[in-house]
Amino acid sequence: MGNCLDAPAKVNTSATSASGAPENFSKISLFLALSSLTLPSRGSSSLQDSRVEDEILPSPNLKSFSFSELKSATRNFRPDSLVGEGGFGYVFKGWINENTLTATKPGSGMVIAVKKLKQESLQGHKEWLTELDYLGRLHHPNLVRLIGYCAEGENRLLVYEFMPRGSLENHLFGRVPQPLSWAMRVKIAIGAARGLCFLHDAKAQVIYRDFKASNILLDADFNPKLSDFGLAKAGPTGDRSHVSTQVMGTQGYAAPEYIATGRLTAKSDVYSFGVVLLELLSGCRAVDKGKIGVQQNLVEWTKPYLKERRKLFRIMDTKLEGQYSQKGAYTAASLALQCLSKEAKARPPMSEVLKALEQLETPHKKAIRSSPLEHERF
Ligand SMILES: Nc1ncnc2c1ncn2[C@@H]1O[C@H](COP(=O)(O)OP(=O)(O)OP(=O)(O)O)[C@@H](O)[C@H]1O
Ligand SMILES: [Mg+2]
Repeated sequence: MGNCLDAPAKVNTSATSASGAPENFSKISLFLALSSLTLPSRGSSSLQDSRVEDEILPSPNLKSFSFSELKSATRNFRPDSLVGEGGFGYVFKGWINENTLTATKPGSGMVIAVKKLKQESLQGHKEWLTELDYLGRLHHPNLVRLIGYCAEGENRLLVYEFMPRGSLENHLFGRVPQPLSWAMRVKIAIGAARGLCFLHDAKAQVIYRDFKASNILLDADFNPKLSDFGLAKAGPTGDRSHVSTQVMGTQGYAAPEYIATGRLTAKSDVYSFGVVLLELLSGCRAVDKGKIGVQQNLVEWTKPYLKERRKLFRIMDTKLEGQYSQKGAYTAASLALQCLSKEAKARPPMSEVLKALEQLETPHKKAIRSSPLEHERF
């Protein structure tokens, strides 16, 4: 049954406390485990060597913060301001004045999340720059808003809007007071699909490359926003079918052909989307080393159950306590199965995935859903 409460995790106790991501979810581990290539130069060179001002693409939307400003905004990066930790570094909660964007007293003004690069981080400076580049230009209701950055000496920080409900990962696998309802899961899947659609259908296509539950953040109303653009990559141009890259991503979410060949397409994101759909259905992690045999790998374990309507209940999240639409769950399962096709070409584009998911919304929700998407293209 889809009961995954035994998942190993440095779990947090609230939606906004430290991430419960287990070690086996690290991007680096995927790189080391799968790549036969030489180690990347990313993050290894001295940050002071590079002329940061020359590297940062001008973006009128972003504020350049001084380190001392961010120190005061986060109360000197106090441990009790810590809300999460990832491969890149630590994430702190802070406060700034919403007009002047200067540090304010805790509890007043606008809440921000400050991501501070670990000095020894291998992911490093290159991802920091990539994130600045993409999030400085891309704006959409389902992408997290980047407010600014800091590059002072060896310090590299990013400043985002604060997402009060934390990550989808925390809600699915952490100890939260209230498990996500079926309707919430559908809403989150739809919003995340809109974010990916926006990236894939942009005039200059963007492949996100790191779609996973910990990168889907939730606002106060559980609207999902994609965060972490450090691995994003421009899609193929001209008559090219793919871009060739070093294999980066997260174990359990990355598409098999991408892992095998380093050939990246938007369909790699579609595969990862399928994995997250399975996590939403089952409440189980993509990879869980605490489990036995085939259950360690969510895709392998669930595939036989996705095809058969009568067997689907066996992998459904027991935390739902049976409170879900059976028809809806079967539609979502069939969609996940298509997204997880071994053959990338057989996977539907995100626009089709989105359309299918929108059919799962309750009629009431559909009626009150706000007007068409406000897509701002760059
Ligand atoms: N803008 C934000 N608002 C609120 N919390 C955030 C924000 N950004 C990140 N967090 C919290 O910090 C945690 C760590 O985020 P981070 O992106 O550094 O790592 P990750 O996604 O967990 O792992 P990885 O480095 O493998 O991507 C998130 O899971 C989330 O709980
Ligand atoms: Mg992240």
